[in-house]
Amino acid sequence: MPPPALTDLIDLGAKRALVTGGGRGIGAAIAARLREAGAQVTVADLDPSAQGSADEIGAAFARCDITDPDELSRTVDVAAGDAGLDIVVNNAGIFPTTGPLAQVTDEFVHRMLDVNVRAQFSATREAADRMPNGGAIVNMASVAAIGGGAGISAYAASKAAVVAMTRAHANELGPRGIRVNAIAPGIIDTPGVQEQLAPLAAGGLDIGKRIAANPVGIAGHPDHVACGVVFLASDLASFVSGHLLVIDGGSTA
Ligand SMILES: NC(=O)c1ccc[n+]([C@@H]2O[C@H](COP(=O)([O-])OP(=O)(O)OC[C@H]3O[C@@H](n4cnc5c(N)ncnc54)[C@H](O)[C@@H]3O)[C@@H](O)[C@H]2O)c1
Repeated sequence: MPPPALTDLIDLGAKRALVTGGGRGIGAAIAARLREAGAQVTVADLDPSAQGSADEIGAAFARCDITDPDELSRTVDVAAGDAGLDIVVNNAGIFPTTGPLAQVTDEFVHRMLDVNVRAQFSATREAADRMPNGGAIVNMASVAAIGGGAGISAYAASKAAVVAMTRAHANELGPRGIRVNAIAPGIIDTPGVQEQLAPLAAGGLDIGKRIAANPVGIAGHPDHVACGVVFLASDLASFVSGHLLVIDGGSTA
C-alpha cells in the first residue's frame, strides 16, 4: 500500500475546527490557515469586533469568554454541530507584564492561571466530549515555559502548566484517537505584543529589532505559528502526540 499523497495528508476538508482567541494575532492567522486547508472553522473570541476577521475568511464567529463555563460550553456545542469537533486550538491567552516578584499580587497570579491554564483545561474537557471521531488538540504555550525570564514569572508558570497539561491529556485522550500537542512560540509580532512593548518603545526600544532578535534574524510572524498548527492538526502529524513544537527562529537553541 503506497503512503497517502502529501496533499491528502494536509487536506482538512470536512473537518470542524474551533480556534479560541481567533480574532486577531496568532489566533487569526491560525483560523485563516485552517480555512485554507479546507476546515469549517469557528472563531471564538472575547472581543465582538472579531466577527469582522471571522467573516473575512469565511469562518463562523462565537463571542465567548473562555473563562465563563456557560459561554465556553455553548461555543463548543456550536462549533461541534451534529457531526462533532475534529480540531481545537486552545490559543486564547493573556500576557500582561508580571513585573518583579515582590510586586506580584495573588489576584494577578490567579487571573493569569485562570485564563491561561484553567480555562484551557476546561476547553479541552468540553471539546474532547464532542470529538466522537477522534481529533487533534493544539495548545498555545510559549518559550517562557522553557526559559523563564525575569519579570514574567506568573506568565512562565502558566505556560509551563500548559506543557504539562498537554502531555497528561495526550496520554489520557490518545486511546480515544485524540492527539494533544502544544506550540511554544518565541516573540511574534501581534497586536498583543505591540501593546505590551509600546511603553518600552516610548523609552527608545526598537520593536522591530527586538522581534527579529533570533538566530534566523527574521521577525516572528503569526503565520509562522499557524503553519505549525496546520502540521499538528493534520494527518501529517498522525503519529505525533504529547509534543512541544518550538517555533522561535532558534532563539532558545
Ligand atoms: N505573540 C507572542 O509573542 C507570543 C509568544 C508566545 C506565546 N504566545 C501565546 O499565543 C497566544 C496568542 O497571542 P497573541 O500575541 O496573538 O495575542 P493577542 O493579544 O494579539 O490576541 C489574543 C486574542 O485572544 C482573545 N482573548 C483573550 N482573552 C480571552 C478570553 N478570556 N476568551 C476568549 N478570547 C480571549 C483576545 O480578544 C484576542 O483576540 C496567547 O496564548 C499567548 O500567550 C504569544
